[in-house]
Amino acid sequence: MTKTILITGGAGFIGSHLVRLFVNKYSDYRIVNLDKLTYAGNLENLRDIESASNYIFEKGDIIDSVYIKDLFLKYNFDGVIHLAAESHVDRSIANPMDFIMTNVLGTVNLLNAAKDLWKGKEKGKLFYHVSTDEVYGSLGDKGLFLETTPYDPQSPYSSSKASSDHFVRAYGNTYGLPFVISNCSNNYGPNQFPEKLLPLFINNIRNNESLPVYGDGKFTRDWLYVIDHAIAIDKIYHEGSNGETYNIGGFNEWTNINLIKVLCKQMDIALEKEVGTSEGLITYVRDRPGHDKRYAIDANKLKNELGWEPSLQFEEGLAKTIAWYLDNEEWMDNITTGDYQNYYKEQYR
Ligand code: NAD
Ligand code: DAU
Repeated sequence: MTKTILITGGAGFIGSHLVRLFVNKYSDYRIVNLDKLTYAGNLENLRDIESASNYIFEKGDIIDSVYIKDLFLKYNFDGVIHLAAESHVDRSIANPMDFIMTNVLGTVNLLNAAKDLWKGKEKGKLFYHVSTDEVYGSLGDKGLFLETTPYDPQSPYSSSKASSDHFVRAYGNTYGLPFVISNCSNNYGPNQFPEKLLPLFINNIRNNESLPVYGDGKFTRDWLYVIDHAIAIDKIYHEGSNGETYNIGGFNEWTNINLIKVLCKQMDIALEKEVGTSEGLITYVRDRPGHDKRYAIDANKLKNELGWEPSLQFEEGLAKTIAWYLDNEEWMDNITTGDYQNYYKEQYR
């Protein structure tokens, strides 16, 4: 093996696609996936690669500094790609402390372990922090987030991610830790936990349940297919420059309500229902407190410097996504019992 890379949060949505990409593409890398397996982590996401000879799963918590130090000593990592996080804005409004613990303290534990392990041997090492466009706050009708846009996080989730970004830069500046950060827009695709807009609405449509649109539905997001995010991370990990930040986005803005209408139409076609049936399930509900109006990424730095672009048009990505959820109903059924039902009742009562 030429390198040992730690991927944190590899049993989650984006992490599982990234682990699969690295395990399949780099047979000479040893990939260690560290995940606590919270409600959002699911080893079913990785069944197809779990017995690959270059893949190891470690169940553990990034909040546990002693465990993390030991893990770094055990594997002598050359690189870290850090995705483990509490990732849902609504849950951060209900329980901010969980986000501070995992997203801030957990990140600092990883930084300390990397700093200590690599001290004096920084050449060829890299700490890659996977972050979000939400750190930049909310846009008006015009403009795009650039890498130089000042941070202005508005939710407990985005504040915790902004804080972790600052710590990563501080460790680069203070201790010479080699790092890169990427800030990505909204991802969609297979294996996303059905607390997020698209899988939640797909699940509700298949169960003929109402579709809870927050506020007036005129909030805007920039959507990117998850595998294109994983490809961007691969590119940045291997070709990005130390200390740099890269924005990743889909060049693909939608207001929620327009996106939901396209989803409803595609679901009607896939389920062989009369077009218009699913739209009838739309219900406007109480808005998310502090709801960010618009996110939109300028990903031209990544495009111009590293030659990355999204590979899929949105309609094609959405069709693939719908097909995956309808072909994997058992996956959805297994994670929407028990705790999920309690969460759903509490969030949407
Ligand atoms: P996710 O919630 O699907 O997965 C998070 C994973 O982290 C889960 O497998 C969970 O078990 C694990 N985890 C949580 N707490 C942990 C802890 N204390 N120790 C170890 N593992 C822990 O999240 P996602 O949507 O795949 O997002 C992954 C990363 O990408 C996050 O850092 C998120 O902020 C960032 N991001 C997400 C999006 C998006 O649209 N989903 C966009 C931009 C950036
Ligand atoms: O921008 C990147 C971020 O995108 C990531 O950092 C986060 O981890 C990820 O969760 C996502 O955050 P959002 O808050 O944008 O995603 P969510 O799917 O929760 O909501 C998308 C939009 O849909 C948002 O405007 C809120 C709205 N919404 C969401 C849900 C769950 C609804 O109208 N109804 C809903 O039931």
